[in-house]
Amino acid sequence: MQACLNKSFFPTFDSEQLKKCDFLIICVPTPLNEACEPNLDYVKAACHTISQNLQKGQFVILESTTYPGTTEEVVLPILEESKLKAGIDFGLAYSPERIDPGNKRYTVENTPKVVGGINEECTKIAAFLYGSLIQTVVQVQNTKIAEAVKMVENIFRNVNIALVNELSIIFEKMEIDSWEVIRAAASKPYGYMPFYPGPGVGGHCIPLDPYYMSYKAKKYGIIPRFIETSGEINNFMKVHAVNLVECGLNKVNKNMYGSTVAVLGLAYKKNIEDTREAPAINIIEEIVNLGAKVKVYDPFVQLIKTKVGVFHSEENIYNALRGADCSIFLTDHDFFREFSLEELSKLMNSPVIVDCKNIVEANSRSNLKELVYLGIGKVNKY
Ligand SMILES: NC(=O)c1ccc[n+]([C@@H]2O[C@H](COP(=O)([O-])OP(=O)(O)OC[C@H]3O[C@@H](n4cnc5c(N)ncnc54)[C@H](O)[C@@H]3O)[C@@H](O)[C@H]2O)c1
Repeated sequence: MQACLNKSFFPTFDSEQLKKCDFLIICVPTPLNEACEPNLDYVKAACHTISQNLQKGQFVILESTTYPGTTEEVVLPILEESKLKAGIDFGLAYSPERIDPGNKRYTVENTPKVVGGINEECTKIAAFLYGSLIQTVVQVQNTKIAEAVKMVENIFRNVNIALVNELSIIFEKMEIDSWEVIRAAASKPYGYMPFYPGPGVGGHCIPLDPYYMSYKAKKYGIIPRFIETSGEINNFMKVHAVNLVECGLNKVNKNMYGSTVAVLGLAYKKNIEDTREAPAINIIEEIVNLGAKVKVYDPFVQLIKTKVGVFHSEENIYNALRGADCSIFLTDHDFFREFSLEELSKLMNSPVIVDCKNIVEANSRSNLKELVYLGIGKVNKY
């Protein structure tokens, strides 16, 4: 982006500049409100800005993730406040953003882009634009289909992660290592795709998008049980992670109250710095509310904001562990795999390690007799 700055990329606050563009792409946040319902305020605000500057012949594309129907029901009427007619005076289409932060194999260029316009001509024009930048463009019949594509993709992930989270809790009780089960199941070359358990889902997409679909489904009188249950299961994993910390401390005759817990990994995903909706936020809050002191460390993250305060990452992992009664891994950064449990546990007050992301494979566990090792999807000896 730096290389293009002020050459082909001109960021500006001046909305008058919109009049000079051929294409106007809206990619503003689509969060939830406190009732977990879609908050389209940013989309509406961006549409009003465009509407006030819209010119004949311009083309508007919404990319923000949202429920099917938004482009025609919300965006179009605001744009037509300009007195210009969609599909006649200006073009309109929807194309979901597909970005996988940290993924080096699939970039914007080689990730196929789905487009759907309000009519056939609009679909073709939007496809032409993206086709000049992106290797594969997938045209669909209308904006609703394109919006539904994004919902399907993210709900698919949420539901499958919930399924494997539920199974991991069952397998823990049955003393079956879920990680080994998944590794072996993934050897099936057809009909199976591995998903992994963990302390809950994070990021601004997977935990939020299913609620956009739920909201719309309810407008049609349908309670989306599958979608909502998966959200509940994934949220419960944070409680389970805290329970494992409590169990671990109990095993060394300590309580949460008065203990020091090192939280390792704050980002919602491996090898990136993004903490939006990260499970670490609620887990830190819960641990602090139960009376423990929390130290945090993430090689990518400087600080994390929670309802119980702002936590600054320790200078290094050793500082985080020194004096801790328990440590909990929440993100599977490659960096964490470089350490042996022996090395880590020697720094701690008591060697209690909770592993929520299979940082430590079963076959590389420590031989330390006194080590208390518990994990999500692991064979936990309570
Ligand atoms: N970033 C991703 O990895 C990703 C992937 C898939 C989908 N999405 C979707 O894309 C959308 C944007 O996500 P993001 O991560 O880029 O959000 P972001 O919060 O990082 O960036 C949004 C930008 O919109 C700007 N903005 C807000 N209101 C505005 C307005 N009224 N007018 C002009 N600009 C305005 C903000 O200043 C900010 O720069 C969301 O709907 C998200 O779900 C993002």
